Amino acid sequence: MANLTGKKILLGITGSIAAYKSAFLARLFIKAGAEVQVLMTKAGVEFISPLTLATLSKRHVYTDISSEESWNNHVELGLWADAMVIAPLTASSLARMACGISDNIITAAYLSARCPVFFAPAMDLDMWRHPATQANVQRLQDFGNHLIPVGRGELASGLVGEGRMAEPEEIVAYLQRFWDKVQSLAGKKILITAGPTYEAIDPVRFIGNRSSGKMGIALADAAARRGAQVTLVLGPSSLSPRESSVQSVPVQSAEDMLAAARNAFKDADITILAAAVADYRPRETASHKIKKTGDTLKLELVKNPDIAATLGQEKKKGQLIVGFALETENEMDNAREKLQKKNFDLIVLNSLQDKGAGFHYDTNKITILGKDNKIRNFELKPKQAVAEDILDEVEALLISDV
Ligand code: CTP
Repeated sequence: MANLTGKKILLGITGSIAAYKSAFLARLFIKAGAEVQVLMTKAGVEFISPLTLATLSKRHVYTDISSEESWNNHVELGLWADAMVIAPLTASSLARMACGISDNIITAAYLSARCPVFFAPAMDLDMWRHPATQANVQRLQDFGNHLIPVGRGELASGLVGEGRMAEPEEIVAYLQRFWDKVQSLAGKKILITAGPTYEAIDPVRFIGNRSSGKMGIALADAAARRGAQVTLVLGPSSLSPRESSVQSVPVQSAEDMLAAARNAFKDADITILAAAVADYRPRETASHKIKKTGDTLKLELVKNPDIAATLGQEKKKGQLIVGFALETENEMDNAREKLQKKNFDLIVLNSLQDKGAGFHYDTNKITILGKDNKIRNFELKPKQAVAEDILDEVEALLISDV
């Protein structure tokens, strides 16, 4: 039985047939000990009566942004809540939230909310799949809002596929897990390497790779939200962490990354090596821009330090190291070999054979291998959700090591 005692929840209901489930959701929140304030759009009211929700929540339901009482309240409510949950969220309300259009009580409260925001979309298969919808979902996630994934099944249109709102029990469980995790890594120091490295050829050119840094940054944000003290050693990336408590150390080359990582590793309880480190660098870096003189140009490359292997050798009792492996063939064998050779405790395998996984995507599909040969396969999901799965595995290992 879920326990949300004392939590204040703003529940936004928009105009979808799934709105009937929101009555069950409100009831479950209340049974779990939460206080619920319901907000509805005009379209939401077409599907379920505010009176039903007011009776269940024992509070007045706001449906209108321009009435005198709601006008001031949307800011107050946004500040009052410990969490805002919009369930169901239609494609059009999603688009309003993604663009910051505050023309109804829910989107106005959303813009004022300082608490974590959870959204449970509900729409038809093709609407859900449309790139506009997917881009809006991504945008909300980039704002740090939490997607409660849609379910598969029969839809109101009669079509079968993805787009159903998550069941009320799942939504309650999602929030419960969120709050349970909140401080689960408090007191832990975590070092994360992320992004590519750039190996200078001359003052303007470099050898690099296509890593965006997204996976490592998602890990840093997720660990910070769980209360860890995070040092993020980040190669050149256009992205940066959202959580202000993450201490970022920007670096360029593999050698810089090694120095910064070694420094933070001394006190780290947990180290996660998500960087795509260049394996080789030019033997020499020209001090001036190389001129175009001949028809060919030879560059001699030398091996870069292996940061993971170096830290693996320096690892002391009580320290955990999680590595990544990006493989295109013999994936399991190669990952297992890296786990052993680099003295990792866990290795996260990304297979480039999986559609939607890898550098260019916002999603990833991983397998986690442990020293004990335990294998866990995960579905394709947004990198933020993958980060939570990885941290769950790390926490499980911390508990089993105690
Ligand atoms: N790694 C590292 N320093 C390097 C190379 C890799 O810290 N110079 C880390 C990565 O961050 C990752 C793990 O080691 O956690 C495995 O990286 P990967 O590129 O898959 O393996 P390599 O050791 O480079 O082996 P190969 O390129 O032969 O697959």
